[in-house]
Amino acid sequence: MINFVFGSQWGDEGKGKIVDYLTEKSDIVVKHHGGANAGHTIYVDNEKYVFHLIPGGILHKNKICVIGNDTVLDLLTLKDELQILKEKNISYKNRLFIGERAHITLPYHRLLDVALEIKKGKAAVGTTARGIGPTYANKINRIGIVANDLLDKKILKNKITIANNEIIDIVKKVYGLDNKKIKEILSNFKYLDHSALDYYDQKTGLDVDKLVNKYYKIGQELKNNITDISLLLNQQLEKKKKVLAEGSHGILLDINYGTYPFVTTSVCIAGNVFSSIGTSPKYLDKSIGIVKSYTTRVGAGPFPTELNEDIGKYLQEKGKEFGATTGRPRRCGWLDLCIIRYSKMLNGMNEIALTKVDILTGLKKIKVCVGYRLKNGSIIKTVPYDLYNVKPIYKELPGWDQDITNIKKYKDLPLNLKKYIEFIEKEVGVKVKYISVGQNRDQTIIK
Ligand code: GDP
Ligand code: IMO
Ligand code: MG
Repeated sequence: MINFVFGSQWGDEGKGKIVDYLTEKSDIVVKHHGGANAGHTIYVDNEKYVFHLIPGGILHKNKICVIGNDTVLDLLTLKDELQILKEKNISYKNRLFIGERAHITLPYHRLLDVALEIKKGKAAVGTTARGIGPTYANKINRIGIVANDLLDKKILKNKITIANNEIIDIVKKVYGLDNKKIKEILSNFKYLDHSALDYYDQKTGLDVDKLVNKYYKIGQELKNNITDISLLLNQQLEKKKKVLAEGSHGILLDINYGTYPFVTTSVCIAGNVFSSIGTSPKYLDKSIGIVKSYTTRVGAGPFPTELNEDIGKYLQEKGKEFGATTGRPRRCGWLDLCIIRYSKMLNGMNEIALTKVDILTGLKKIKVCVGYRLKNGSIIKTVPYDLYNVKPIYKELPGWDQDITNIKKYKDLPLNLKKYIEFIEKEVGVKVKYISVGQNRDQTIIK
């Protein structure tokens, strides 16, 4: 059966930590969407790991990890992550599988991502500059490169030439960029940890041969990992293996149901798990919603419960709310239960994993948004398309002072925290099963 675990807000809910924790009871962990825009942090024995592409289950040495066909793969980032595994003596041989239909992100996608953001000016989405949108756009335009293409140099060259020329044409003719400007963008790529400048060519913009050679070489290194994951997973599910499917991004960033256009470009909701891994929905067992006990958002877009004054800063600093991918400060606000109910409606939610409650410790009063008042005066309890014109209605709950980071049993938690948890359960109609009181694996309480 498949358990789906997802972030029910705008991301950074603690998916890395919870996926790592839940892996213990699973056989296979799958990433179903998204690319190197994700940033999932895991602490094991006080050692920090940040993964963008590799599923959070990889630190459990006997579990299989699968990257689904609806992901977009930046192979340069993947190589960095594989290097970390090598350094830590964590083998991925015969246990990391990459969907042969997953699309590959190349430097020209990053170039286009940044060029479009610059062009949008004030209307920019605030993307992670990881080329995610352009990779999915090429997939839809049917000029994408899939993982399987990496294995045949001739096919790879044909396909890279078409896609590269198309994008270079767009940035030059539509966006008016010349080679000098292209070079400037490549060398100033924000937030990137390796240089796209390596592929710059003075005459054409990007050097196709260099790209082909590099990506073919990586394909050869990964040829035993690239496979028909749909067949693999169907066989494993028939054998009653337990699959944990992880959502890479918060549900409010979903391309269809998120706060469009301030969203990512993949389908984040539960339905996409089956599309990405090529299995029947009949296998779904449970959906587990990860709920951070306050709300954060990176990038532009509406955020009804955002706190711009003291408490927002307090949550940002105490919660270390800085992007795991880009390092940008995360916008912070109160927990918004309209968003959690909406996530429940879209994905199902059998259980909640409530994270970062330790960050709320010390606050005298904690506010929770229980509904929105619309412009016409009516009240709603879920998320409308226009999230700019809603006014949050708050319930104020008393806080707690006691340090909870070493508590192991629910019964030992402060009374006001228990009341806060029970309040969430009642408002959302879902039981809180896991309570995370710190970044480490063992700082997790089962209720
Ligand atoms: P993800 O994108 O959902 O995987 O989340 P990130 O890793 O980007 O951000 C969550 C951050 O909170 C990470 O630094 C985690 O180590 C940390 N974290 C997760 N759960 C807890 C918790 O319960 N308490 C505290 N203090 N930190 C947590
Ligand atoms: P994790 O997995 C927070 C946001 C970006 C931007 C928008 C579009 O760590 O929860 P993109 O590069 O995807 O085209 O950017 O989506 N975004 C995230 N915000 N956490 C993430 O991932 C995000 N992935 C994308 O900030 O607003
Ligand atoms: Mg993150």
